[in-house]
Amino acid sequence: MVDANEERSLMGYEEMSAVYDAVYVAMKDYAAEAERVRAVLERCALRPVLDVLDMGCGTGLHDQYLKEHYRVEGADLSPSQLAIARRRCPDLVFHQADMTNFELGRDYDAVICLFSSIGHVITEQRLHASIRAMARHVRPGGLVLIEPFIDPDEFRPGHLSVEHGSDRDAQVVRVSYSDRDGHVMKLTMHHYISHAGTVSVAEPVHMDIAMFTDQQLRDAMQASGLEVFHDPDGLMGRGLYIGRQPANNH
Ligand SMILES: C[S@@+](CC[C@H](N)C(=O)[O-])C[C@H]1O[C@@H](n2cnc3c(N)ncnc32)[C@H](O)[C@@H]1O
Repeated sequence: MVDANEERSLMGYEEMSAVYDAVYVAMKDYAAEAERVRAVLERCALRPVLDVLDMGCGTGLHDQYLKEHYRVEGADLSPSQLAIARRRCPDLVFHQADMTNFELGRDYDAVICLFSSIGHVITEQRLHASIRAMARHVRPGGLVLIEPFIDPDEFRPGHLSVEHGSDRDAQVVRVSYSDRDGHVMKLTMHHYISHAGTVSVAEPVHMDIAMFTDQQLRDAMQASGLEVFHDPDGLMGRGLYIGRQPANNH
């Protein structure tokens, strides 16, 4: 049974999975981002990094590259995102899990949570619970990497964005706009899809994403016993929080 918070996290991805890769492969350089993740893991961990969990892995777009260097597992709440990830990386283990409350029964050298997946947890209480659960899965000297969403001060009212992408089957144009309710961005996305000679307009996708502040993210990481470092550039300009589990902890 899916509770109201899980439903809010899932909102959008079940409808959007079919066009997710077409839009984001065009928009983001996943291979380059995976290399940046790798540089951070190699530079900041106090232990050799071998086992990596990608929490909020989506369709496995980073994992297809990271698996060349690490033993990668993925986890996501959305069954439709996971189905695509499993097709993309049939050699990897993917878990259906809610980042706010998960227990996978094993540890990793690093847990990564990329492309603002953390924003879907919405409340500060669930932010703390998520970081706590990730930190609990990390070995001493290992890392939790959190790529945040935007800061609330960066919200631009009335901003429209248009993205264009394609994959083997379809061409997709996405028009999105957002409103805010306090610290939560209320995003609406319209997808125009050209497939087999016809163009259709999908039902609008609605998504909530929390804009946590720098202080909220640092507090949540510190409360979980992590030593916090911040890289302002990160993977795609949104910054990256690097939480390190003390070497003698656990
Ligand atoms: C913006 S996508 C990022 C996916 C992937 N990391 C990427 O870079 O393409 C956010 C992902 O977070 C997942 N998600 C949302 N809420 C979640 C939760 N509570 N637990 C685990 N995954 C969640 C969504 O299903 C979605 O796949």
